[in-house]
Order: sequence, then structure tokens, then C-alpha cells
Amino acid sequence: MKRLLTGLQPSGELTLGSFIGGIKQSVKFQDEYESFIFVPDLHAITVPQDPLLLKERIKKNVALYLACGIDPNKNIIYLQSENLYHTNLSWILECHTYMGEASRMTQFKDKSKRYDNVSVGLFTYPILMAADILLYDADFVPVGIDQKQHVELARDLAGRFNNKYGTTFKLPEPLIPKIGAKIMDLQNPTKKMSKSSEDIKGLIFLLDNEDVIRKKIMSAVTDSDNKVYFDPENKPGISNLLTIYSALSDLDIKQVEEKFKNYNYGNLKKEVADIVIEKILEIQKKYHEYMDSGLVDEVLNKGLKIVQEIAQNKYNEILKKVGLGRI
Ligand code: TRP
Repeated sequence: MKRLLTGLQPSGELTLGSFIGGIKQSVKFQDEYESFIFVPDLHAITVPQDPLLLKERIKKNVALYLACGIDPNKNIIYLQSENLYHTNLSWILECHTYMGEASRMTQFKDKSKRYDNVSVGLFTYPILMAADILLYDADFVPVGIDQKQHVELARDLAGRFNNKYGTTFKLPEPLIPKIGAKIMDLQNPTKKMSKSSEDIKGLIFLLDNEDVIRKKIMSAVTDSDNKVYFDPENKPGISNLLTIYSALSDLDIKQVEEKFKNYNYGNLKKEVADIVIEKILEIQKKYHEYMDSGLVDEVLNKGLKIVQEIAQNKYNEILKKVGLGRI
């Protein structure tokens, strides 16, 4: 089985858009690949974070991923900061990265414009990401298009290292997943539902309560034509509601269109709210069970033990090749 490795940024609260557009895809991958899933918490501090919020979010997000169907028996799940080999390898890779190539990373250029005091960590971020990947000989790395350049850097570094010291690393390939249904902002349906949006009225969070979810859906922006059909260009609001219904009911868009063709907008919204609430309450029930039962810690402890052993072997091989230590 090919090995797949994903990092889930602990930034922001997860939304219905994260579930339908991303997490559902990872749930599918777990049957097709040997999957490593980790929380890149060290990457999170490349920009300022509130320590208490960060710590809380790490655990909450792991519990939510599990509640959304990421199966701890099919995935190796761990925290980056707890496996010290990531940063150790990152240093060695930094010493094999040219200033020129690191300076070409477009995400650094974008992000560094948004903060006043940019850290060196934000600059070396892609090299730590290369270490995350190369440490485990991942075949595939599913990432958004914004991260493709970083996976290519990991590939270049692996190739360079292999040439210099003999074959050590597997060359990883980025896997740009076919986007699951793309869910739009309820108040601004031509824009993606993004957990970093400022106006939260258009976002449904996986931990929102029933009343809030219903209110947000009932006040979703639509149009004045009062006919229900799928046309993302001219009817983005209605089409978004149909997409949400389709993703959660597993009916395709045509079937959903047929089902609702004689509905008015109010009744359509009501049924969309019903199905969203049903799904989210199911996720929340599991989420609370996992948070209360200690399962999250159990899963993370088990994952850490497995990856530490793999990483240690790899790291010793690297030390030997580079001429470090005494082995
Ligand atoms: N940089 C990735 C993101 O923003 C997260 C990440 C860190 C990652 N290390 C990784 C993703 C290794 C895949 C593999 O989404």
C-alpha cells in the first residue's frame, strides 16, 4: 500500500465547508492508502498565536476529525511537536537548502506582507515541512494548490541529498485532491466558506448549536427569482444550498434539483437546515464522547510511539551519512 501523509493546520475552527470540501476526502483516502495524519503545531507558531487557544484547538480539532470519520485504526495520528526528529531533520535539511530557492517560496512572500515582525521560522517553514514528509518516506502528500511548491521543494531536497549521500529519501508527490463539493459562504455565495472569514454569519462551524445553524441557513442570501434550480453562475445562493444538501444526502445534484423543484425558498432552506443539523449533531455527539473519554490522548500516544520508532531509524541513517554523531 502506498503511504500518504497529511498535515492538518490547527488554525481556526472547522466549518461545514472543511467537512464537505476536505475531511470527507481524507476519510476516503484511509481505505486506499497507509495514512499518516499529523497536526503541524510547530508550523502554527511561525505567526503569532495565543498559547491557550492554540493548545485547546489542537485537541479539539483532533477530536473533530475523529468525529467526522477519520478512523484511528486506519490512520496514524500524531502531533508534530512531540516527535523531536522533525526539527532535528529540519536543521540538517536547512543546511542543504540554498538561500535562493528558499527565497522563491510564494507563500512566504504573501504571508510576510501580512505581518509586522516576520519570524525566521516563517522563512524556514517549507524546510520543516520537507522534514515532516521525508522522515516517513511518504509517497503522496495531499495538499491544496498553495502548498504544491513546498512539496516540490521537499522533492528537490530529497533528490539533492540522495545524490550527495546515496539513496536515503523517497521523492514525494503532491496529490491535489479533486475538490469535494466546494461550499460557499452563506452571506456571500460567490466566495468560499472559509474559517478565516471575518463575518461569521456566512459560516457554519461544526461546533455551532442547532439554533444558530438554523438561523444562519434561514438567512442565507438567495435571489429574487423564487425558482429552485442549480445554476451556480446566476443563482449562487440557491446552488450552494443544493450542493450542501447533495453532499450530505449522497443524492446527486440532479436528484436534489428534482426533489426541490416545486419548493419555495423558505421551505428549501428549512429542509437544508434539517439535514445539516442532523449531520452536525451526529458529529458533535461523537466529538463530546471522544473529548470526555480520553480517546484523543490515547490515539495521539499510540501514534507518537509508532512514528518515533520510524523516525529514529531514519534519523540514525541520516546522521551516519552526513558524518554526525558516533554511529
Ligand atoms: N503547510 C501545510 C498547510 O498549510 C501543513 C503542513 C505542514 C503539511 N507540514 C506538512 C502538509 C507536511 C502536508 C505535509 O496546509
